Amino acid sequence: MIYPIVAYGSPVLKRLAKEVDPSSAETKILIDDMFETMYASKGVGLAAPQIGLSSRVFVVDASPFAEDVEEKESIILKKFKRAFINPVIIEQTGELWAYEEGCLSIPGVHEKIPRLREIKIRSQNTKGDWIDEQLSGLSARIFQHEFDHIEGILFPDRMTPLKRRMIQGRLKNLSAGKVDTIYKMKFNVK
Ligand code: CO
Repeated sequence: MIYPIVAYGSPVLKRLAKEVDPSSAETKILIDDMFETMYASKGVGLAAPQIGLSSRVFVVDASPFAEDVEEKESIILKKFKRAFINPVIIEQTGELWAYEEGCLSIPGVHEKIPRLREIKIRSQNTKGDWIDEQLSGLSARIFQHEFDHIEGILFPDRMTPLKRRMIQGRLKNLSAGKVDTIYKMKFNVK
């Protein structure tokens, strides 16, 4: 099932999401629906709050980025296609690097956001096993963007006050439902 995407300005996007039962039937259906919704809206990541559910789940598929990078990272990005359940960041290291980000909940806004290059993470699969991984570069960036969503953080929160001021008008219009997207959106979702 394809869900509408919850727009900027909705309280659900600012809330700390709750852990889920990784092996329940609901979680499996949720993940299937989230992949379907992400592909329909041409995103590379989608977190449960973006379909109105305050759950610690997100899906990613970085393969659209695999074209623009060197071979080693390209192979990693092509395989970076899965669901993360109840994820945690164990460690963030490496240098800060800025790269332009966008978000399905904030269409029309793109801005360079600084993030750390390397992360150690832990998350569950649908059998309930915990998996430890190390991510770097774009996959680490996508993970951190989606992880922010389940913490109630959106990428404008990571902009400088000046840049945030510059997009304020657009964010106001968006919260009020003035937007034009290829996918359906839902506004002011509690
Ligand atoms: Co986003």
